[in-house]
Amino acid sequence: MTARELDVGDTPTQHADHDTPDRAARLVVEWATSDSFRDAARVVGPAALDASDFTARVDLTGLPAGQQIFYRIVFQDLANPKVLSEPVTGRFRTPPTSRRAVTFAFSGDESGQGWGINTAWGGMKMYEVMRRTNPDFFIHSGDQIYADGPIKPEVTLEDGAIWRNVTTPSKSKVAETLEEFRGNFAYNLLDRSSPPSPGAPCSSTTRSASTPSTRSASTGRSSTAPRSRSS
Ligand SMILES: [Fe+2]
Repeated sequence: MTARELDVGDTPTQHADHDTPDRAARLVVEWATSDSFRDAARVVGPAALDASDFTARVDLTGLPAGQQIFYRIVFQDLANPKVLSEPVTGRFRTPPTSRRAVTFAFSGDESGQGWGINTAWGGMKMYEVMRRTNPDFFIHSGDQIYADGPIKPEVTLEDGAIWRNVTTPSKSKVAETLEEFRGNFAYNLLDRSSPPSPGAPCSSTTRSASTPSTRSASTGRSSTAPRSRSS
């Protein structure tokens, strides 16, 4: 079973989105204020089913203010509860109750105008840049996808050089079906440009691949992931 990607959203109520196991499975989240996970709280979330494109979401409540929250997420096979995915871990910060300076990053406009993930160029550099600046939080200002903007495998630049995009069936055409729209969002999660450093702080988007197997962005079928990443 694979557990590929997760996104951590708004505070103070944290949304831990963890998508794409490769079968119907239940989302289980542990969180703690230290990376030892001593006294971790365990939250049993909803099942990730085919109808939700094998994505699931759980809201963590009652988190302490002004803390690093470490989390560990697994999927539990609905057919065999003894079968668990590899865990995916990360961390985020909760807002402080007292006044202090905060730093935040903002960006947007992902994979527009035919410019997709070019691994030779460094993939989606904005996530690696944000990770290095160690912000308290991230604001995605929109245009997460361009459903009407296909991404071709190659674009010829003015100087004749070739820009090479990672692409998928869903990103190769204008999205028309639910599967293709979902494939547009999943495309962004294929970016593997910034693998995690252990214990690195995460911004609001955390991505990691726990195993070499993952679902393709467009079809949901098993395929081989290029590399793991997290930010
Ligand atoms: Fe835009």
